[in-house]
Amino acid sequence: MSTTYSIATIPADGVGKEVVASGRAVLDALAEGSQGAFDFDFVEYPWGTEYYQEHGVMMDPDGLEDLKKHDAIYFGAVGWPDVPDHITLWGLRLNICQNFDQWANIRPVQFLPGVQSPLRKADEVELDWICVRENSEGEYAGIGGRNFSGRGPGGEFAVQSALFSEFGSERIIRFAFDLARTRTNKKVSCVTKSNAQQYGFVMWDEIFARVAKDYPDVATEKVLVDAMAAKFVLHPEDLSVVVASNLHADILSDLGSALAGSLGLASSANLNPERRFPSMFEPVHGSAPDIAGQGVSNPIGALASAALMLDHLGLADEAKRLQLAIERTTGSGVLTRDVGGTATTDEVTAAVIANLAD
Ligand SMILES: NC(=O)c1ccc[n+]([C@@H]2O[C@H](COP(=O)([O-])OP(=O)(O)OC[C@H]3O[C@@H](n4cnc5c(N)ncnc54)[C@H](O)[C@@H]3O)[C@@H](O)[C@H]2O)c1
Repeated sequence: MSTTYSIATIPADGVGKEVVASGRAVLDALAEGSQGAFDFDFVEYPWGTEYYQEHGVMMDPDGLEDLKKHDAIYFGAVGWPDVPDHITLWGLRLNICQNFDQWANIRPVQFLPGVQSPLRKADEVELDWICVRENSEGEYAGIGGRNFSGRGPGGEFAVQSALFSEFGSERIIRFAFDLARTRTNKKVSCVTKSNAQQYGFVMWDEIFARVAKDYPDVATEKVLVDAMAAKFVLHPEDLSVVVASNLHADILSDLGSALAGSLGLASSANLNPERRFPSMFEPVHGSAPDIAGQGVSNPIGALASAALMLDHLGLADEAKRLQLAIERTTGSGVLTRDVGGTATTDEVTAAVIANLAD
């Protein structure tokens, strides 16, 4: 019997459109090769900056209700220079993440064959680690405000608070420990800035120590975020699962993908682990206005995100097959410009599809 997975696609802006199209082509090819075992029913939503310019909102007011009907959401990137980023981000991506309680953001840092890393160490050592980002509160809780603009130039003030709940911190820390148990290197690194921020992060550290007692088989370390930035560069072989707040893991994961060779390679899953809402899969990168429309964007981040989506849908073998096809493609030198090649987005897509076949 064939299973049809209903996937909402939201390409949104810039290269988001190019990489989501690539992902759809690859997923369709996988379904075609499944001999009727499974299929994807894609429903594309036109939300994004152009939609905002036409309708005054980033997504349809009933959009969240529509999205609930799908098994998963496949997202491109949102943001364009002519609308302020906080409007586009909060209006679409964060609106979905927060209302669907996608509290765990998984961002693997993968070093692919054929892609040169700026790290000399990557030539000698096998490197791969996962950033686990608290994805619902912390510094992106949206709590604060602006006032006193009436005082005139220089008189306004703004407060941006970070929210750390015991519940929110504990669930993401437990998630990180559970993930570490599935890996060869069973280790969790806890990242905070608890020396300078003495409330939220001190509580986070205490929760980490408490949860760690339930996982005696998992090694732990506590590292301040600034030291962790250095460790990503100097001792990445020591990392397996890195758990951090919304802002810290956002920044660290971009550093990780740059070390792996390009922001265009990095994948991500915004998970609602309880499955009360659909989870959302997207490349880490943004809309890349500097290269959008040229057909040269790297689709690997979006394709690796599709592999994470397959895994989430219960298609673990297909996820592995897609990951292998990605590695064969980069390993054979079919690379976009950002990783030193000359291939177009379409050429990389075609090569990945061809590499699925074996
Ligand atoms: N998840 C998201 O939707 C998301 C994430 C980050 C930024 N943004 C938005 O994207 C817009 C641009 O932001 P930015 O310039 O800071 O970040 P960006 O990720 O769009 O681009 C940073 C650099 O990486 C390159 N790059 C990004 N993706 C690439 C790809 N697939 N292939 C090759 N090169 C790639 C770009 O060309 C650029 O030089 C802003 O509006 C920002 O708010 C959205």
